[in-house]
Amino acid sequence: MAAFGTVFMPQMTLATFENSNWSSPELVSSDSIQLHPGAHVLHYASTCFEGLKAFRHENGSINLFRMDRNIERMQQSSQLLSLPAFDASFLQKMITDVVKHFHNDVPKPPGSMYIRPTHIGTESAIGKAASPTSSSMLYVLLSPVGDYFASGDQTLRLLLEEDGSRCAAHMGMVKSGGNYASALQPILQARASVNADQVLFCPNGDVQETGAANFLLIDGNEIITKALDSSFLHGVTRDSILTIARDMGMTVSERELSVDELLERAAKPESEAALSGTAAVLAPVGTLIHKGKEIPVGDASPGKTTLKLRKALNDIQWGKAEDKHGWLTQI
Ligand SMILES: Cc1ncc(COP(=O)(O)O)c(C=O)c1O
Repeated sequence: MAAFGTVFMPQMTLATFENSNWSSPELVSSDSIQLHPGAHVLHYASTCFEGLKAFRHENGSINLFRMDRNIERMQQSSQLLSLPAFDASFLQKMITDVVKHFHNDVPKPPGSMYIRPTHIGTESAIGKAASPTSSSMLYVLLSPVGDYFASGDQTLRLLLEEDGSRCAAHMGMVKSGGNYASALQPILQARASVNADQVLFCPNGDVQETGAANFLLIDGNEIITKALDSSFLHGVTRDSILTIARDMGMTVSERELSVDELLERAAKPESEAALSGTAAVLAPVGTLIHKGKEIPVGDASPGKTTLKLRKALNDIQWGKAEDKHGWLTQI
């Protein structure tokens, strides 16, 4: 199976913003864009994106998961990056049009169609380091993806990073390329030095998130994760898992979590930890690495509650359980 996100549908929907107006979205070839080498995005990183999925149900229908949330987040990212604004209905139509066009290509579960809306600043003006782009391009790329857990449910090893941050504190809630670039060196170093899969960024002891997923700690009937603030990405999966956990009668604590508390709780035999995100849904964490020591989380195997929560979310996405929160949009 091809690596996640390396296969694309041959066409995408695209709209451009010029002279204060959005063009009508069009279906164009996925490799058709042209950018001036002086484009704002290439120099001053005026770019944001989203990631959501469409699922094929047994009756053949195609269903988008929580599209409204991703659109809202993209509007917020665009605003915080001073990129041109767009209406939610505008992007919603671009997403549904392209998914409808390729509905025959949406894989069956456990696969899905990963949807990547992207917004970039296109004005060719290298003197605009401190000014917004006046033109931009919005497009929606599709990538059919397979089973994230095809190689089995291995648990992840996370290095706790207390000195550095994933990105600038006020940029965490923006889904922008620069944040991923700034996290890359710490991640590569963690892989090389302690064979970690990911870095859990905990600046000054504040447990935040990894490079591309939110972090959840499960201690018995309680699920603990950092309360929303501007320092980290407000994951749609995080919100969905917390809602499902509440529905199951679990106590959900959205609050500050310190490294000290995390390590203390992780040592309990029943503790679990997981990463949440659109790609992996909920991936079990088995080991925390802190100051040269390896600390197993609970018994270091995939947690029972983690797997139960993941299945509950997958069942809704795959049309096997009631969608009682109205998270799916059938197209
Ligand atoms: C930095 C970061 N945090 C969290 C998430 C999880 O967000 P979501 O559940 O909306 O995919 C992602 C995934 O896209 C991410 O890149």
